[in-house]
Amino acid sequence: MSNRTFTMIKPDAVKAGNIGNILQMINAAGFRIVAMKYTRLTMDQAGKFYEVHKERPFYGELCEFMSSGPIVAAILEKDNAVADFRTLIGATNPAQAEEGTIRKKYATSIGENAVHGSDSDENAAIESSFFFNGLEQF
Ligand code: CMP
Repeated sequence: MSNRTFTMIKPDAVKAGNIGNILQMINAAGFRIVAMKYTRLTMDQAGKFYEVHKERPFYGELCEFMSSGPIVAAILEKDNAVADFRTLIGATNPAQAEEGTIRKKYATSIGENAVHGSDSDENAAIESSFFFNGLEQF
């Protein structure tokens, strides 16, 4: 089991001024920041990042949204990082997210859901290398 996961603070949460609050929750839950970047995806880059969802009806909307403003991308480290981070962020749909999770607090809809978290060790590695090279990880 790997101990790293990848996250993005999405454009809705950045726009709402919640970067600090979300990073505070991530730190309080015991994750160490390995890499971090404030950046903005182009439509093409968002399409590539979310390529696995290409056939889904919400793909266009997802890419539009993810390229609509700046994001914070980060690699996080902790024992059992992928599963523990998904617990911390809560369900994809904030209406189903547990009390005290990041999405329950800061997400507004299934599309604009404040944060991304990798769903497997394999995807955590792929997604991390999409944003960061080896010299940017500490
Ligand atoms: P994320 O964890 O970033 O992974 C894929 C994203 O697709 C997901 O969060 C949601 O933001 C988005 N998504 C999933 N289902 C829907 C949906 N039904 N409508 C719009 N966006 C969705």
